[in-house]
Amino acid sequence: MTPEDIEHLAALLKARSGLILGADKTYLIESRLAPIARKEGFANVAGLLTALRTRRDEKVILAVVDAMTTNETFFFRDKTPFDQFKSDVLPAFAKSRISGDIKVWCAACSTGQEPYSLAMMMDEARAQFPRINLDILATDISDRCLEKAQAGLYTQFEVQRGLPITMMVKNFEKVDEMWRISPKMRQGVRFRKYNLLDDLRGLGRMDVIYCRNVLIYFDIATKKRVLEQMATMLADDGYLFLGAAETVLGITDAFKPLQGTRGLYVKNMSASASLRPSATSSLPPLRAAGAA
Ligand SMILES: C[S@@+](CC[C@H](N)C(=O)[O-])C[C@H]1O[C@@H](n2cnc3c(N)ncnc32)[C@H](O)[C@@H]1O
Repeated sequence: MTPEDIEHLAALLKARSGLILGADKTYLIESRLAPIARKEGFANVAGLLTALRTRRDEKVILAVVDAMTTNETFFFRDKTPFDQFKSDVLPAFAKSRISGDIKVWCAACSTGQEPYSLAMMMDEARAQFPRINLDILATDISDRCLEKAQAGLYTQFEVQRGLPITMMVKNFEKVDEMWRISPKMRQGVRFRKYNLLDDLRGLGRMDVIYCRNVLIYFDIATKKRVLEQMATMLADDGYLFLGAAETVLGITDAFKPLQGTRGLYVKNMSASASLRPSATSSLPPLRAAGAA
């Protein structure tokens, strides 16, 4: 792998997915791209990287961008964001909304455990909040992840990670060596491919956004741009959940932490006024038009 190859790969990943490839990522590049190199008929990863630089094969580019994403996730990850949904978000909407449809967006859903956790949590809370219905949209840049999410098929290891045994028994059935989530939970989540670098406002108004464990891979300018677009999409009384290692502090004042919570944010109304859709509509999306 030459320094030029790595530099080109880093620029490609930043432009296509926002991923910042840190220094000394040779091992990561090797391990993630070796299967793609083999599949596409290259002798090794170095050959694949040179081809990326010298010819523009869109199929290979997409496969490389997908393979370089980190898809770590599990059911009820970190627990708190799901507990807070039940203890803070649902009671607030139960009071403020007459019609019971709450639009929830999982903005980097990986293989589906996060949106399915929300669907299962809502199912458990149904008796307490009978008029609330969650309309869950789950998006990701990775076709590979979305395919798995849509199939709703998980290994024994995956269903044992974070999922309470009672929920597993209630919501999954064994299919050979795998566990499939029930049709009822699958019907409760819509999956769609979406790149966070694109113009997000086309997705419409959201009441709750889970944007967890993806901003950590972006630089500050990209984080800011994504968060500020999310602020224009979020209802004024909406909520934003970030990952445990993520914050808005020092990036944008479009959101402020909800007092007494961690990782849960609401709109900072004084700062949000300058971010109204009309004020941001002239800004281009982060990704060049026509890029996949
Ligand atoms: C570490 S996973 C987080 C999954 C889940 N939110 C959680 O916290 O468990 C990060 C996900 O972000 C996705 N991702 C990375 N860059 C993206 C982008 N530009 N647009 C949309 N999704 C992206 C990856 O494909 C990956 O599935």
